[in-house]
Amino acid sequence: MNFGIMTFKSYFVGLALALPLFAASAPNPDFSLPAPRFCPELPQNLTLTSDAKLPNPFKFAASSAPIHTKADWSCRREEINELFQRYELGTLPPKPEAATGTINGNTLTVDIIHANKSISFNVTMTLPKNGTAPFPAVIGVGGISIPIPPGVATLVFNNNQIALQNDATSRGIGDFYTLFGANATASSMTAWAWAIGRIIDVLENMPEETTKIDLSRLGVTGCSRNGKGALVAGAFESRIALTIPQESGSGGEGCWRISDWMLANGTVTQTASEIVQENVWFSETFALYANDVDVLPFDHHMLAGLVAPRALFVIDNTGIDWLGPESNFGCMKTANKIFQALGVPDHMGFSGVGNLDHCAFPASQQPDLDAFFNKFFFGQKTNTSIIETDGPNDLGFVDSDWIDWEVPQLA
Ligand SMILES: *[C@@H]1O[C@H](CO)[C@@H](O)[C@H](O)[C@H]1NC(C)=O
Ligand SMILES: *[C@@H]1O[C@H](CO)[C@@H](O)[C@H](O)[C@H]1NC(C)=O
Ligand SMILES: *[C@@H]1O[C@H](CO)[C@@H](O)[C@H](O)[C@H]1NC(C)=O
Ligand SMILES: *[C@@H]1O[C@H](CO)[C@@H](O)[C@H](O)[C@H]1NC(C)=O
Ligand SMILES: *[C@@H]1O[C@H](CO)[C@@H](O)[C@H](O)[C@H]1NC(C)=O
Ligand SMILES: *[C@@H]1O[C@H](CO)[C@@H](O)[C@H](O)[C@H]1NC(C)=O
Ligand SMILES: *[C@@H]1O[C@H](CO)[C@@H](O)[C@H](O)[C@H]1NC(C)=O
Repeated sequence: MNFGIMTFKSYFVGLALALPLFAASAPNPDFSLPAPRFCPELPQNLTLTSDAKLPNPFKFAASSAPIHTKADWSCRREEINELFQRYELGTLPPKPEAATGTINGNTLTVDIIHANKSISFNVTMTLPKNGTAPFPAVIGVGGISIPIPPGVATLVFNNNQIALQNDATSRGIGDFYTLFGANATASSMTAWAWAIGRIIDVLENMPEETTKIDLSRLGVTGCSRNGKGALVAGAFESRIALTIPQESGSGGEGCWRISDWMLANGTVTQTASEIVQENVWFSETFALYANDVDVLPFDHHMLAGLVAPRALFVIDNTGIDWLGPESNFGCMKTANKIFQALGVPDHMGFSGVGNLDHCAFPASQQPDLDAFFNKFFFGQKTNTSIIETDGPNDLGFVDSDWIDWEVPQLA
């Protein structure tokens, strides 16, 4: 059974029903794609071929056929989603049999039942002190380390309780694995994305007068390892309108191939080979490819591309080599080409600033962050065409070293 495809299709059914509401009440730009139909099937025995450049997002892995239309992209998006689950992140399960929520003070309790097992976890809800409900809300993966504007609620959950991430011995530990078994292929990041889906489910199932949350204006954020998690959640969970990973580095905003190249060129930076030994953010299957990332039929420009055409603002710290600043900038600049192809380049931005502690947020990035919140939560016409770093020469990233494909205008 292919869970990835099921989740994706059920979203479009949901979106079709919800569309008139979006149009009437939300300032959100249209973040729909055409429903995926007549998609080429991805063979189980897909032949992986080595490609030292960043793989072409605009060509099916199954058939090598080019992508010409937004409808093609819907199919390709579904294929990329499946590729990430298959080779890197493990299987994202579909909705469980039941997910119910209760709110007590500032605690939202999420109760889940699946195959006669149950789990329960808490989310700390903080509503704005003033302003008018329903409020847009930012989901915090393990916490929030960016400034949240007035008028925006926060929903913070303990992702370590869902799937532990102490070190390489953490695999299969946490509420998610209580439900699906310690041998579930899902990595910790996939487990967190699944849990975020359940938080949204229970909010959907409660009256808006009770939750005071506007589900058409949901964001997600997290920093460092939890920033990688925020990007994965934004990629997999299409009900999130604004994804803001902060200093997510290698395994998040970085591309595996560029990080390997940086290390080979003498910068001590995190690579796939290191990351699969350090922790359980990726599936056990991914370890088979970590020393030969050129055979992966994707890189993280395509993970970020799964967010499109929904909004994505990537915050980076150019002062920490371990994060892979050149990889991060190059990877996300390349990801923006997917947004360009969909006609919404300004739905995705990147800002890299150095000289700050890891996960500190510098005042110099505040205007860019405000521009994203104001456009995608409050419907203002701000300038979100931001792909920039404080480093010289784009930190040494040269498009032609990494990209051997053109950007189509998808009709
Ligand atoms: C993959 O499997 C299909 C269906 O079983 C088969 O027709 C095809 O030859 C296989 N391809 C490779 C490269 O093994
Ligand atoms: C759940 O429990 C019921 C009653 O004990 C049993 O009949 C059923 O097979 C169980 N379902 C699963 C999925 O284990
Ligand atoms: C959730 O919070 C409530 C208090 O509001 C507490 O009684 C309960 O034990 C918490 N549940 C979990 C799973 O932490
Ligand atoms: C909310 O109220 C506080 C205190 O009255 C005020 O300082 C602040 O500007 C208000 N914020 C908004 C968004 O209205
Ligand atoms: C998990 O996999 C291990 C190794 O293959 C096996 O020994 C164990 O029985 C499996 N556990 C479950 C719950 O399936
Ligand atoms: C938008 O902001 C970017 C980054 O600051 C800047 O380069 C660009 O010129 C701005 N565009 C407009 C139309 O103001
Ligand atoms: C590669 O390493 C050399 C020598 O340290 C350095 O001068 C150069 O800037 C590096 N190239 C890039 C693109 O980082």
